[in-house]
Amino acid sequence: MTEINIKGGRRLKGETDVSGAKNAVLPQIAALVGMKGEGVIYNCPDIADVKTSVEIIRNLGGNAGLEEGRLYADLRNIDKFEIPAGPGGKMRSAITFCGGLLGRFGEVVFSEPGGCVLGARPIDIHLNGFKVLGAEVKYEGERIRVRGKLKGSKIKLKYPSVGATQNLIIAACFAEGETVLKNPSLEPETVDLINFLNACGGEIKVRDGCIYIKGEKDLRPKPYRVMADRIEAGTFLFAAAMTGGGISLRGITRKNMGVVWNVLEGCGCELKEEKKVLSLKAPERLKAAKEITVRPYPGFPTDLQPQLTAMLSVAEGRSIINETVFEGRNKHIGQLLKMGADITEEKGFIINGVKSLKGAEVTAFDLRGCAALCLGALGAEGESRIKNAGYIFRGYENFEEKIKDLGGEISILKLNRV
Ligand code: EPZ
Repeated sequence: MTEINIKGGRRLKGETDVSGAKNAVLPQIAALVGMKGEGVIYNCPDIADVKTSVEIIRNLGGNAGLEEGRLYADLRNIDKFEIPAGPGGKMRSAITFCGGLLGRFGEVVFSEPGGCVLGARPIDIHLNGFKVLGAEVKYEGERIRVRGKLKGSKIKLKYPSVGATQNLIIAACFAEGETVLKNPSLEPETVDLINFLNACGGEIKVRDGCIYIKGEKDLRPKPYRVMADRIEAGTFLFAAAMTGGGISLRGITRKNMGVVWNVLEGCGCELKEEKKVLSLKAPERLKAAKEITVRPYPGFPTDLQPQLTAMLSVAEGRSIINETVFEGRNKHIGQLLKMGADITEEKGFIINGVKSLKGAEVTAFDLRGCAALCLGALGAEGESRIKNAGYIFRGYENFEEKIKDLGGEISILKLNRV
């Protein structure tokens, strides 16, 4: 059991590095299993989900490891197409291994993926896409078998699912002929995957909001540097904003931050970017954000919604946040209420900003909710204890060190199970 203790009430001041993007590197590592050869990905964050991906590659007969931000993978001896239930159950992105294995072996067996419980999180868009590409999908108890020689086709996604788009892009590289994805995810992390696959010999283009993938590619791993993590950066910017602080983040640009930059300016923060260093200066007190609706890119990202909720809980005035991507991404609300936040859940989250939160004992239920509680604790008066906080290691590299770099008072304790 992991516990995070934070002493709040200090303005965050300082500078730290932004790591490589979890949600960009995970599909790239997954795509590697479709390729023969040895791969290297730079700027790879040392987080639990990367470790789980390395474990899956080893289970499949390959070899992989992460050292000083350099992910190495030897895919030459991969000889299995069954994704193990154990590691596969730890994270949602395990399903993205399907595309490469289906391409390499014409078959893959896996379980419904694990990961943060944010609602139903079905995988129908993935499976329907594989069927349109000519594969057969069979349920075998807890396991799912997808098999078939892939033939390029036109696939219209009923929702721009990030994972399904990424899975189908990877699979389509191995299909016969061209595939077109309509209504796909165009998140920066998806574009980073496309750039990675094209570097490895793929022929993928984005045109008029659709993705065109040429098939029958004999992809070979090429060294690649994964993009910076806009969600990690946003988490730290929100922390500084809600403590009236001023910080700088190395390795991130205004372009990476997209609409998040505008939201922070709208709340009264001053932001500037010089040579890939992004600086924020917070006002004495943040202004409320009238209404923010979470949307697929380029809309406000769902992965920063919990952190935004924490930040706006101390802004002056009333804010409304509409979470439209995950119907169950609200477990942080009850915990923020324990810190004195004034939030009611109607169609959206109605937040009446309070002057300050109070330190409290709270519990985390998912990765970004855990980050949101850390932000609440940093902005609160007094001490907070966040229980069940192991989630933080899934998505934030060196979280404790970085918060200390930024002037926060934090300690992360790994308690043995009693
Ligand atoms: C990816 O999850 C990210 N994870 C999530 O980040 C992120 O919140 C999400 O995209 C949205 O941006 C990784 O990249 C590893 P979706 P994914 O498929 O692919 C529904 C984090 O905190 N849906 O775009 O699972 C689904 O239920 C994590 O870093 C279907 O209905 O997200 C949800 O309501 C959390 N059928 C919506 O689409 C499907 O087959 C968006 O899901 C697939 C999805």
